[in-house]
Amino acid sequence: MKPVRIPDLRVMKATGTKIAVLTAYDATMARLLDRAGIDVILVGDSVGMVVLGFESTIPVTLDMMIHHTRAVSRGATRALIVADMPFLTYQISADEAIRSAGRLLQEGGAAAVKLEGGRPVLEVVRRMTDYGIPVMGHLGLTPQSVHALGGFRQQAQDADSAARLLDDAKSLEAAGAFSIVLESIPADLASKVSSAVGIPTIGIGAGPHCDGQVLVSYDAFGLNDTSVPPFVRQYAQLAKAIVGATRAYIDEVRAGQFPPEQSRK
Ligand code: KIV
Repeated sequence: MKPVRIPDLRVMKATGTKIAVLTAYDATMARLLDRAGIDVILVGDSVGMVVLGFESTIPVTLDMMIHHTRAVSRGATRALIVADMPFLTYQISADEAIRSAGRLLQEGGAAAVKLEGGRPVLEVVRRMTDYGIPVMGHLGLTPQSVHALGGFRQQAQDADSAARLLDDAKSLEAAGAFSIVLESIPADLASKVSSAVGIPTIGIGAGPHCDGQVLVSYDAFGLNDTSVPPFVRQYAQLAKAIVGATRAYIDEVRAGQFPPEQSRK
């Protein structure tokens, strides 16, 4: 199958074909998502919470992201790979942002990077895209600002913050972003943003009217079954399957049923 490229996503928006995005953090998961035909694999900094056991995405470093992005790149041959830029790798200066993004592309094998925020990152986005680094924006609930936001909760609920978010989305498009993730915002605002910009919006907890949807794969497949956000739909129950399989293995080992006697021929 033909690899997914950035211009393909714009065509999908124009033709009303919804874009399916899932996160992955390793080669095995990337291979499976790719085989199923996913359009975009996001190597999210959610790796910090989902795989590494941190309380937030803030402790995730650039080296960790490169390590996981490289693994995903080895597994996927068709999907477009987007890597998250971790906290403080793009906020300090455009030069540092370009260097950090460059490593995610060069060493990690990503085709694009994602970073969080609106107005404060516009100059950085402009500089990065001028140098040919494709940038995906991320507005609404931006997890790297979890402390300032007071937790993982829905954003842009009043008219002022909704207007600011709409303005940020238009500014990100003008700065050169090729797509924007809209996380945990009211569905009617996500719909308004999606109509107002020419680039595809990818929603998570933002209703059905975005140009695509993204979920954290561990949530979507029921691998994480403890604190699942309310907007998630679980397409499999892998935690239950793994616990069941582990119990069966333990029982068979204890009972001496595994491994079987070797047949001598
Ligand atoms: O880190 C991540 O997985 C993300 C998605 C939830 C959009 O940013």
